[in-house]
Amino acid sequence: MALWVEKYRPNSFDDVIGQEDSIKKLRAMADKMDVQHMILSGPPGVGKTTSAIVLAKSVFGTTWNQNFIELNASDDRKLSVIQGKVKEFARSRPIDAPFKMILFDEADSLTTEAQQALRRMMEEYSATCRFVFSVNYQNNIIEPLQSRCAILRFQPLSEKDLHKFIDRVGEKEGLNLDAAAKEALSYISKGDLRALANLLQSLASISKTITADLVYKNGGVTDIEKIREGIKSAIEGDYQKSKEIFSKFIESGVNTKELINQIFEIIMSSDNLVDKKLKPYVIEKLAESDYRIVEGATPFIQFQAFLAFLSTLKR
Ligand SMILES: Nc1ncnc2c1ncn2[C@@H]1O[C@H](COP(=O)(O)OP(=O)(O)OP(=O)(O)O)[C@@H](O)[C@H]1O
Ligand SMILES: [Mg+2]
Repeated sequence: MALWVEKYRPNSFDDVIGQEDSIKKLRAMADKMDVQHMILSGPPGVGKTTSAIVLAKSVFGTTWNQNFIELNASDDRKLSVIQGKVKEFARSRPIDAPFKMILFDEADSLTTEAQQALRRMMEEYSATCRFVFSVNYQNNIIEPLQSRCAILRFQPLSEKDLHKFIDRVGEKEGLNLDAAAKEALSYISKGDLRALANLLQSLASISKTITADLVYKNGGVTDIEKIREGIKSAIEGDYQKSKEIFSKFIESGVNTKELINQIFEIIMSSDNLVDKKLKPYVIEKLAESDYRIVEGATPFIQFQAFLAFLSTLKR
């Protein structure tokens, strides 16, 4: 059975939902046959890889497969492998086109050393090859590479855009979805269309009629009320209780990073949970934990440190 993520991957710029600014720039590049080195930056599942492939198809037409390669940076992390593949590809001449294109998917995980080497290769092969980096965090790319690239930012999809995708898939797959179900799907997928496509596919295997209830029961969404209670306990100085509440989540397999995201959303969207004056500090601390986790710190410890911070706020 085909994965819906692939089945519903856009084949042309027209099919890409949202991302108007970036798509406009990419279209212009395709029209002029003038592609720059680029960094496509943004959260997971919002169309970065898809747009790079669409650009290649649009620029190269039938020879896109010969003039474009996608290197998955997290698989091919070793410098020698990257160098070998890039050289082999970049050296040979483009086929019926002025240049070739290399996409470094998930380039966040490229080491500094590898990026330095790529920078030199970019210079060496700039006449025949365009380098495109897809990343979640632009700052994981070294400055000298950033300065050689046009930076295109991809956003989490808006609720309206998520609904568009749900309608597109729902119609093709013959699903029955009411407004509440769509709302639930958008809430859970948080602007990530890959997550949405996967969720829809797994729900559809249970039932063609998708209700909000089905979405919440199977969507792995954590108990918002319980999270609120955990935050509240911490803020009231009851570190022990908040620790118990959150430990249960973590033991039950909820990802710490996901938990931090949810806490962020809950704090941002509620007026009376955290004192207005304290909110900026809490958000800053949360962002710090989030960043540290991305950088490789132990999520559990970061999370406990955040709770400890919350519980000292009142003093
Ligand atoms: N803007 C979009 N319009 C339509 N479908 C999309 C869009 N973004 C993502 N999708 C759907 O989600 C799938 C994954 O998208 P894609 O691989 O482009 O994500 P990505 O931004 O590269 O994410 P990652 O950072 O995880 O690599 C696509 O195959 C498609 O089904
Ligand atoms: Mg990608």
